[in-house]
Amino acid sequence: MINTNSVIIDTGEIQESKHLKVTSLTYQNNTESNYTEKIETLEKNFNYSDNSNYYWSASELSILYGTPLYAEASPSQKIALNHLYWVTQYSQIAASEANTILCNDVTNGVFSTIGGYETLCKELELESDQEKSHIHAFHKIGYETKRSLLQKAAFNAPLGENRGKSVENYLNDTTSNRTLQKFLSFNPLALEDCALRLLKKIRLESKANCYSPYLHELEKKNLFLPGPRTGILKVFPRYLLRLFILSWGSSYFLASQYYCLRYIANMLLKTAEYEYTRYFRELEKKGEFIPVPTEISRYHLLDESFHTTMSRLIAQEVYKDFAKPTVYERFIGNLSVELMQKQLLGGLAGGIPAIFQDDSCFMLAYYRLLRGPLFEMSSQEALQWLEKCLCHEHEGFHVNLKYHHRLLYDLRSFFGGIDYMSPVNREMSFMSSGGSIDKAIKENIHSFRQFSKSIAN
Ligand SMILES: [Fe+2]
Ligand SMILES: [Fe+2]
Repeated sequence: MINTNSVIIDTGEIQESKHLKVTSLTYQNNTESNYTEKIETLEKNFNYSDNSNYYWSASELSILYGTPLYAEASPSQKIALNHLYWVTQYSQIAASEANTILCNDVTNGVFSTIGGYETLCKELELESDQEKSHIHAFHKIGYETKRSLLQKAAFNAPLGENRGKSVENYLNDTTSNRTLQKFLSFNPLALEDCALRLLKKIRLESKANCYSPYLHELEKKNLFLPGPRTGILKVFPRYLLRLFILSWGSSYFLASQYYCLRYIANMLLKTAEYEYTRYFRELEKKGEFIPVPTEISRYHLLDESFHTTMSRLIAQEVYKDFAKPTVYERFIGNLSVELMQKQLLGGLAGGIPAIFQDDSCFMLAYYRLLRGPLFEMSSQEALQWLEKCLCHEHEGFHVNLKYHHRLLYDLRSFFGGIDYMSPVNREMSFMSSGGSIDKAIKENIHSFRQFSKSIAN
């Protein structure tokens, strides 16, 4: 039996444990699979014009689906909105997969400091390599599609979250920022100071036994800790994200706990990707043309099923190999999940299915879409349509609520089984309270008022 301040492992038990068998089998199956290679080949042969006349999924996976504007859109505009949905989803997915590569490195380093986890480390490395190919494919298809549909406007106005100086004031006052400040209910600088002192204490207590070699290298080179501003990790303020990254790289327990967040990302991805796969099967059954992006989504879901298995295994089982969490570890573990619930899953978009944030994050992108070559609206027309589409109940909200319920059910069953989680995380309470059309519309009315003022100024 090994017993240090931060790890208790019976090496004999580890050899026999069920999770090592699952890891071994997952690694073997993942190594033998060729889904990444299929994605690479599909990407190489992708040409937007060959795929441009076909839906890439069922119509409900389209930007602004179910809104009054969608009802009046022409057939070609509807197809374009369907393609732009793919592009938007996969641009978010690519950014989150870049987060995954970073966090795999950080946590892999921690697991590599003890014996018995060699296969797990190899699987994480393999997953990072696969993510690099996935990201490349998503970027290439996204770029080609946006260039064809939106021409120059695509690159002034990425169809993602709000960016740009013109709406700086608006951004500084977004609902999510206010909610976060309220939620943290103390001064961020005080938190940073307190957190860094706590971290120092952990480092001393753990005698740096498990300090991630990845972080150690950064320290040696005097480099700053990364604090990505894209992907799912962007929901954390940068100072807090850096604290999380240090924590995931300094504790066996927290390295395992990170996989709770990765599981949320896996399941978010699956929410949309499962629908693409279903569409793929329908086309295959009917012997019809299968668009390249649909096929890529299908193979990506298969590749990601290995990653999801590993996230679940590490988050639900592997942490039990180590000493019970300290008060600090339990606090950090719960805080990261609570914030992710609030910031990533705490609302309901009316204009983008399977996105569980209110539409304020995307308002500028919608506006630019309506002003761009696809709809060619004047500023006044665009604002009028935005008001109609975001501030009143319509089918799009109901479609999204269906996805919300499905994901909430899955996440509740996942977090319900983790003993150190607080009741709000076990119940996914913040996510649950965000699943309300009335609430989403109220938030949108508030944000739309501010947004239309910022456009007028
Ligand atoms: Fe991926
Ligand atoms: Fe993945």
